[in-house]
Amino acid sequence: MTEHFSRPLLELSQVSIEFKTPKGLFKALDNVNLKIADGEFVSLIGHSGCGKSTVLNIVAGLLKATSGGVVLDGREVNEPGPERAVVFQNHSLLPWLTAYENVELAVKRVFKGKKTKAEMHEWIEHNLKLVHMEHALHKRPDEISGGMKQRVGIARALAMQPQVLLMDEPFGALDALTRAHLQDSLMEIQRTLKNTVIMITHDVDEAVLLSDRIVMMTNGPSATIGEILKIDLQRPRSRLELADDTHYNHLRHEVLAFLYEKQRKVEDFAQHAKKKNDTNAETQPRLKVVS
Ligand SMILES: Nc1ncnc2c1ncn2[C@@H]1O[C@H](COP(=O)(O)OP(=O)(O)OP(=O)(O)O)[C@@H](O)[C@H]1O
Ligand SMILES: [Mg+2]
Repeated sequence: MTEHFSRPLLELSQVSIEFKTPKGLFKALDNVNLKIADGEFVSLIGHSGCGKSTVLNIVAGLLKATSGGVVLDGREVNEPGPERAVVFQNHSLLPWLTAYENVELAVKRVFKGKKTKAEMHEWIEHNLKLVHMEHALHKRPDEISGGMKQRVGIARALAMQPQVLLMDEPFGALDALTRAHLQDSLMEIQRTLKNTVIMITHDVDEAVLLSDRIVMMTNGPSATIGEILKIDLQRPRSRLELADDTHYNHLRHEVLAFLYEKQRKVEDFAQHAKKKNDTNAETQPRLKVVS
């Protein structure tokens, strides 16, 4: 736990989950334990299929753990709630509503009876400004770029003033330049608002640049937390300056070593073995071991 964070806001205790499949029960997660402090930015990283989205969905209340559970600010999480806003990889905006109206829908849900109409209007514009979307308030999703749609998705989540922002590969579908812009915006927003964030990513540089801690998951089935890496780089962080920073590169190397040495995907070998078994020696060429 990083020292400068005061109290754990969110706690996952002994979280395990089994899915019913046609072949029987599949244990996706086994005994996941994690404490996240108020204002902390935590990234989840791990190979495809290890269970990152499953962890996030349990925290979001969209999935229920088979055993163990999640406590947010002293209350058990049993269902989705506006105090846990989710940003998905593919924006998930309503296509018939403008950027403004998409945010408005969430704001009305959370602040009805608490904010006046004028206050809500101001709040919607404020959040769209935070993500630099003030110039396209009245455009529909099909009239704006992928990066802009993702910005609106982030504005919508921020506008709910959630205790925890849950992001499932929020920039995964974007080109490198747009992704970099959005990462910078997110760092700036988080510095101002001190949001607690859990973000799933496949991008090692993104994880190191944005996080206070990187939670590295083992391969499934029965995936769990393998290692947790503390990212003690000073903020604000600049990607250009960090590119030549020895400590940054060391941290980056730690994540890469976890993913590609310690948790090297065994799928390749398994696939090869399966192929070998499936191969009919009469009709298929023999596989050669290449050193
Ligand atoms: N509803 C379900 N029923 C059965 N199996 C499931 C279900 N949801 C997820 N799984 C399985 O649980 C494992 C974890 O899935 P999950 O989507 O959490 O992985 P992930 O780490 O998010 O992968 P990716 O990086 O590809 O998004 C996978 O093996 C997946 O096939
Ligand atoms: Mg996923």
